[in-house]
Amino acid sequence: MATPLLHVIDDVVTRSAGVSLRMLRLDQVHPLLSGNKWYKLHLNLQAARECGYPTVLSFGGAYSNHLYALAAAGKLFGFRTIGVIRGEILQPLNPTLAFAQEQGMELHAVSRTDYRDKTSPEFLAELTERFGACHVIPEGGGNEAGVLGCTEIASSLEWSAEAKDRLVTLACGTGATMAGIIAGLTVPCQTTGFSVLKGGEFLQQQVLDFLRTVEAPDPGSWHINTQWHFGGYARSTPELLAFIHDFTERTGIPLEPVYTGKMMYGLYAMLAAGEIARGSEIIAIHTGGIHVRASLARDWAD
Ligand SMILES: Cc1ncc(COP(=O)(O)O)c(C=O)c1O
Repeated sequence: MATPLLHVIDDVVTRSAGVSLRMLRLDQVHPLLSGNKWYKLHLNLQAARECGYPTVLSFGGAYSNHLYALAAAGKLFGFRTIGVIRGEILQPLNPTLAFAQEQGMELHAVSRTDYRDKTSPEFLAELTERFGACHVIPEGGGNEAGVLGCTEIASSLEWSAEAKDRLVTLACGTGATMAGIIAGLTVPCQTTGFSVLKGGEFLQQQVLDFLRTVEAPDPGSWHINTQWHFGGYARSTPELLAFIHDFTERTGIPLEPVYTGKMMYGLYAMLAAGEIARGSEIIAIHTGGIHVRASLARDWAD
């Protein structure tokens, strides 16, 4: 894993808001296990190894960055991997699932109704009967090992000696990455998570639960912004796509519309509305996932 760099973003919006903005480029730490993925996976793989499980099984939708990374990690570190997919698997496979399969992941479709039961003991017993003993990672890598791994992200956050108002921003799906970062912070800092899902209010409780799972105190200095979901998970609008295009043209930093694009749009909206204190030092976390653009381009073209 490469050490993630902090990329300075200095433009008309940051200047008129009077803030400094840098982006933590987790998207660059590894060509296949980029973003928050390695942080969520490595302690899970270690646990699987220690328990002697040759197989790792996890869950996700057709665009799952988590399954993409798990498949790559399985190939790199010698695990058989099973991806339980929500809903039908359409042929030809989209680039995300095609990549996972190429890495050796066995794809197993379950109906959307059955998928809702994915944490029930009966459903997990059925999967174990079918695939043999395996280490099961919940959807999105949101378990104790995943959250603990994400605490390491906080050690890449560097602040100036004179920083007073520090703000970390990131995109939230399950809230596991956010909880890990909050748990790993060593200096006073606000954290804002942008829900990429419609109805993201549930993330408030989920982050609290994840903090409890890793026995971290709740510092109270965090907030879930539910405003910038753009219609829901993997939904988009022309404004969001135009923002992403413009941002990438100006900065050279790639974004995608499922996670990082929504987070940066929301952050820029907050800056433009004067909702962030002047003088703040902001670090936006680039949680990766860029490869999903190929799958979206194909499906949105249909
Ligand atoms: C690129 C990207 N960013 C952000 C997230 C959100 O992470 P979390 O589910 O831990 O909130 C995910 C999902 O894992 C993701 O794939």
